[in-house]
Amino acid sequence: MRLALLGCGTVGSEVVRLLHEQSADLAARIGAPLEIAGIAVRRLGRDRGDLPVDEALFTTDPLGLIKRDDVDVVVEVVGGIEPARGWLVEALRAGKSVVTANKALLAEDGPALHDAAAEGGADLYYEASVAGAIPLLRPLRESLHGDRVNRVTGIVNGTTNFILSAMDATGAGFAEALEEATELGYAEADPTADVEGFDAAAKAAILASLAFHTRVTAADVHREGITEVTAADVASAKAMGCTIKLLCIAARGRDAAGRETVSVRVHPAMIPLTHPLASVGDAFNAVFVEAEAAGQLMFYGRGAGGAPTASAVLGDVVAVARNRLAGVRAPSESAYADLAVRPMGEALTRYHISLDVADRPGVLAAVAGVFARHDVSIATVRQGSADGPAGSGDAELVIVTHVAPDAALAATVEELRGLDIVRSVASVLRVEGGA
Ligand SMILES: NC(=O)c1ccc[n+]([C@@H]2O[C@H](COP(=O)([O-])OP(=O)(O)OC[C@H]3O[C@@H](n4cnc5c(N)ncnc54)[C@H](OP(=O)(O)O)[C@@H]3O)[C@@H](O)[C@H]2O)c1
Repeated sequence: MRLALLGCGTVGSEVVRLLHEQSADLAARIGAPLEIAGIAVRRLGRDRGDLPVDEALFTTDPLGLIKRDDVDVVVEVVGGIEPARGWLVEALRAGKSVVTANKALLAEDGPALHDAAAEGGADLYYEASVAGAIPLLRPLRESLHGDRVNRVTGIVNGTTNFILSAMDATGAGFAEALEEATELGYAEADPTADVEGFDAAAKAAILASLAFHTRVTAADVHREGITEVTAADVASAKAMGCTIKLLCIAARGRDAAGRETVSVRVHPAMIPLTHPLASVGDAFNAVFVEAEAAGQLMFYGRGAGGAPTASAVLGDVVAVARNRLAGVRAPSESAYADLAVRPMGEALTRYHISLDVADRPGVLAAVAGVFARHDVSIATVRQGSADGPAGSGDAELVIVTHVAPDAALAATVEELRGLDIVRSVASVLRVEGGA
């Protein structure tokens, strides 16, 4: 079994190392020796340390490598949309199975890859694209196929989880926690993809597609990052027995006509400390799956890093290699449900709103009136400490709502901002998980 490795960076070099260290075991598990036919990179002269591989295998011609007759499986760990999409479509159409870690490509144009795989009769595996080492996609696409998944809630970005965990532990602000994450190598020089939620949104699209047998792309995912989360928000969450996490949430629902839909969103949210995801600290990932018959399932582990991600890549390589030897194909994409994606405004959620208000009679009634006008029901109201000195005339109101459509909650906040008795809306956060 011969494979073409596209990319030899953080993940690719660990794939090479593991292939070398475990070659006898892998051959025994597959039933044939596994060899690298070639490695495509951008720079031939790059120092790759003591990588246990023959220099002659390196090439800067990925397409030429893919087209070689002696290549059975293509492993893509380059990343990005193009030229990766062209390479993988070419490989799949030619009947060569593909293993990829490329979440951006799968979330942007998964259907093109699935269609090419069906056309060429090849396998397309991408376990490493979501939550690194954690076996998650295989359970969704195989083990849970006898069940009905209703909701998937995940912490799928290690960088933001590290930052929010640091803010929670030390009371630091976002900028300070990001600086620490960068120094420790948890955040890239340009952290936009992580802190603005793009990376998590790509993973959310992949998870939703698999969980609900439909096609969801990154463009369907409502996305908010963590750059606006303040130390005051974190303190507010703590006061409620909660913590703040960047969550990806994919849930079934129904539209006004009663048709089944799916909503997929990524945003920071408060979750109670008793929720299984609350204890997921540092750069770890975890995904909480709720299924009709199985009930609640939790998947936890390292979501990134060369070796953890390579572990998932090699698991897929063994699977596709076995299939090829047996002359079979893995089950193809399951997208029969074809669910409409519900806009964020219709997603059901809860808000935690912290207001600085004038401390005088009638204020509570005026504020409650705004909620009532938007048909949003209040779950709790707490009067916090006044910001100014005693007798300054200001008070803090902390309001948690019951579940309501996101558009109604957002409109409530907008109207509150316009009230003259509301000095400022200090913080608005969604609440998930029954806090
Ligand atoms: N790093 C992680 O923890 C992690 C976790 C999960 C998923 N992933 C995914 O895995 C993939 C790879 O990530 P990575 O961190 O390993 O990236 P990386 O360290 O930047 O490595 C990228 C590799 O691709 C090669 N490359 C770039 N452009 C190329 C081109 N046009 N032609 C041929 N080769 C090219 C580079 O060549 P040179 O070596 O010559 O520069 C390098 O070897 C991405 O899709 C990423 O999202 C990564």
